Amino acid sequence: MADSPRHARLSGLGAYRPSVVVPNSAIVGRIDSSDEWVQQRSGIRERRWSAPEETVRHMAVEAGRQALERAGLEPAQIDCVIVATVSHFQQLPALATLVAHDLGTEQPAAFDISAACAGFCHGVALAADLVRGGSSRHVLVIGVERLSEFTDPDDRGTAFIFADGAGAAVVSPSDVPAIGPVVWGSDGSQADLIAQREDWRDVVASDEPRMPYLTMQGSAVFRWASFAMAKVGLEALERAGIGVDELDCFVPHQANNRITDAMARAMHLPERVRIARDVVEQGNTSAASIPLALDRMYADGDAAPGDRALLIAFGSGLAYAAQVVVLP
Ligand code: UT7
Repeated sequence: MADSPRHARLSGLGAYRPSVVVPNSAIVGRIDSSDEWVQQRSGIRERRWSAPEETVRHMAVEAGRQALERAGLEPAQIDCVIVATVSHFQQLPALATLVAHDLGTEQPAAFDISAACAGFCHGVALAADLVRGGSSRHVLVIGVERLSEFTDPDDRGTAFIFADGAGAAVVSPSDVPAIGPVVWGSDGSQADLIAQREDWRDVVASDEPRMPYLTMQGSAVFRWASFAMAKVGLEALERAGIGVDELDCFVPHQANNRITDAMARAMHLPERVRIARDVVEQGNTSAASIPLALDRMYADGDAAPGDRALLIAFGSGLAYAAQVVVLP
């Protein structure tokens, strides 16, 4: 039997930002809030929502195509596609199968995963193990969300937070370790903290057509993320065999700049570590937030090939996943 590659790496990244720019001023009237409050409590100034033709399928394909181009690969070289999403509102077939088809791949393994805001880091962890184990050679991981459809515009706790977009990464074989061991977990006892408001079947059984929007107990999630996630980040660094002094970029899930600050403080990140702040102009895009944040860091000169980045994603379930990666 042939040997499996010993290591995996990110070989290309892609992003898709939908076209509709929505400033705080367009949201706060309905929720008795203000631009100042939203910026102060979350850091968000504006977010991107998708136009009708910018479906999850469309956004995922665009981000995936860019990641493939940047990896220097032809679609036919991809033998597995993993899509992380909670906003593909069709139970089957999996969005990944449609995206794989649109990209012109040759009938690879393709499946969706549901780990909410932690979806992208779960996908990268799975992909790295598939490559290291020899099950796949090049895996395309995509995080995509269209949360503008799934967020109640009258809910003060969520209306200003969630947004739309897609990000992607190709995971490929490597001679040297470039995706560290994942540190991940979940806590289903806290399932109510971020959840779909009601079961689809209850919506179908009622006379009133409505979307079963997501709900969030913001301050409980805030406290959990601010304290527990720093420990997870430090463990991911330890498992990758590096200290905070050797880190170049910190790329947490883009939920709230105050959570990011609390984590950076608790981990004692040195000043020189560049920190992702995409939430300011993009909002919280759940499974897409980490690759979108990376995309902005490259554009701003805050990330470069060879940098070591700590990724930490967390959200509903309370599911989380973190790993150190070497940037492509
Ligand atoms: O992506 C999945 C992971 N999600 C997250 O990590 C999100 C975590 N949570 C958060 O980011 C924050 O909890 C929020 C940004 C959602 C809220 O910030 P907060 O500092 O936790 O606010 P709070 O809910 O504790 O509310 C503070 C005050 C309250 O007033 P009082 O009781 O102090 O008088 C609220 O009634 O702010 C009030 N408030 C608002 N005021 C204006 C709550 N929502 C709003 C609002 N506009 N939209």
